[in-house]
Amino acid sequence: MNSVTVHTPATLSNLCSGFDILGMALEQPYDVITINKIEGKDIVIKHLDNYGLSTDPKQNIAGVVMEAMRKNLQTEQGFEIIIDKKIKPGSGIGSSAASAAGVAVAANEILQANFNKQQLVQFAMEGEVLASGSKHADNLAPCIYGGLVLIRDTPTLDIIPLNTPELFITIVHPQIEIKTSYARSILPKDLPLKTAITQWANVAGLVTGFIQHDYSLISRSLKDVVAEPVRSPLIPGFDEVRERSMQVGALGGGISGSGPSLFMLSRTAEIANEVEKEMRLVYVKLGIEFKTYVSTIAEQGVRIV
Ligand code: HSE
Repeated sequence: MNSVTVHTPATLSNLCSGFDILGMALEQPYDVITINKIEGKDIVIKHLDNYGLSTDPKQNIAGVVMEAMRKNLQTEQGFEIIIDKKIKPGSGIGSSAASAAGVAVAANEILQANFNKQQLVQFAMEGEVLASGSKHADNLAPCIYGGLVLIRDTPTLDIIPLNTPELFITIVHPQIEIKTSYARSILPKDLPLKTAITQWANVAGLVTGFIQHDYSLISRSLKDVVAEPVRSPLIPGFDEVRERSMQVGALGGGISGSGPSLFMLSRTAEIANEVEKEMRLVYVKLGIEFKTYVSTIAEQGVRIV
């Protein structure tokens, strides 16, 4: 095998109360990554998009993950990695995770390495550290496993795929920049017990709601009293997007990952499309450029095509 191409999906992490421990793979958008074997020992990175990401394999997530796998397998095989990013870097829908997870899966295939999904998340994590400066798997794990996953313990990667009812996800990406490292630096270092109780009650409610296909419980549990209070002021239109989305029937939502994208969950495609219209109205009114997506959950993670 000399060439492998993958589709690697955007992901929605946190889902309000599940900060760093819940994530969901999305059908739309996704990046396309091709890995080709080449002569020599080099890792050559090429971008088909215009995001100006590094082509230095030590400074690019894809190169870091590829190198980690080569080192583990003690091979010096050269590779060309061609990346076509459709998920804008810094959007809050797992752009860096898509690169890291996509390369981990593609490299596993081309090297016939047989690493399991958990091991692939571990390799991909090397790239996520470069991107955000911290080890969290709430984008990487759903990107590789597909569906909705719980990361019960990050150091040991205790990853639990969860059942979900049918859901439609509407995302709006206002074109402002919020770096994950900054969005993490402003988080509270300590929590009052009362706040912690509210948060873990909601995350338990959310997980139960997903498993029991209880839309009302999902709706009541989509609350975040930890990250949202400090992060939402960075996102113009946040309150209005949620208010208008709820008025047209959304179940609830909030910040996608560390932002600036916002997400809303809905029971039907019709409601999700109405939510999209409301999101558009808000950002047209604010005069901020934006992009919207309406997606379902991607049951499969990174796909070899
Ligand atoms: N859980 C992470 C955060 C996701 O909210 O900081 C961003 O990568």
